[in-house]
Amino acid sequence: MKIIPGVSSQVLATRIAAELGGEACLCEYKKFPDGELYTRVFDGLKDEEAIVVQSLMADTGLISLLQLIDAVEEAHKTTVVIPYLGYARQDKRFKPGEAISSRAIARGISFAGIVDKIYVVNVHNRAVLEYFDVETRPLDAAPLIGDYIAKRRIARPVIIGPDEGARELVKAVAAPHRFEYDVLEKKRISGDEVIIQPKELSVEAKNVVIVDDIISTGGTIAEAAAMIKAREANEIYVACIHGLFVQNATLRILNAGVKEIIATDTIESIFSTISVAKMIADELTR
Ligand code: R5P
Repeated sequence: MKIIPGVSSQVLATRIAAELGGEACLCEYKKFPDGELYTRVFDGLKDEEAIVVQSLMADTGLISLLQLIDAVEEAHKTTVVIPYLGYARQDKRFKPGEAISSRAIARGISFAGIVDKIYVVNVHNRAVLEYFDVETRPLDAAPLIGDYIAKRRIARPVIIGPDEGARELVKAVAAPHRFEYDVLEKKRISGDEVIIQPKELSVEAKNVVIVDDIISTGGTIAEAAAMIKAREANEIYVACIHGLFVQNATLRILNAGVKEIIATDTIESIFSTISVAKMIADELTR
């Protein structure tokens, strides 16, 4: 197996390679003056299995992934690991004439039959995986967050999801360690504004970990944290699988009284204290 790191997933790819006892292949990525991308994989891949690791959190991530898939064409098998599948929130047509973005991306990646298998970590909606034309397997990093909370020795934590959509996620974080869990009710007003409706939660004097799959602008988490703080919780932590942290997300979250932000390395940032590398490596060798 040869691990091919995409431009957005260089640290994670290196960690996966280390878990497998090797090194990630050296690649070159650059941008031409007109903004077009250039990608090159230095290692030969004849008779090898190529594992391309690339998160898709910006449009360039997708172009880079398509280029890598093309670059490894001499490999006898090509597996793609997508730690963060962007555009998955546009999983259906909400208004007539809209593109189903996740389907467009899935079609692009599986087109031409080069890719043999795909793994995606905590896709926002698993139904999206059906848009891919090749075998696509979901991976769940939620238990790793639960393990981290346990190791971090946060006393008697209550795991809170900011909305009903996070219920399964918080359950997967909390259940193995028998942490208490619940969800809030969220209403989205605009792209970066949400209102969290209060719910009868017993968070008073307790340590709370707010868990969501994605943190983008931080609006959802900041609102949830403010509400939980108003209910006199003790310490408030925030954990997510995919930390995009766009615009002033970090400030918004910290200003809401959050003690610590925890994320995985599906998107690499200073908050990536949990690695999904071993989970992915174990799956690749299963
Ligand atoms: C939405 O359904 C997701 O699970 C997240 O709650 C959302 O993407 C977070 O976005 P933001 O950080 O911009 O509020």
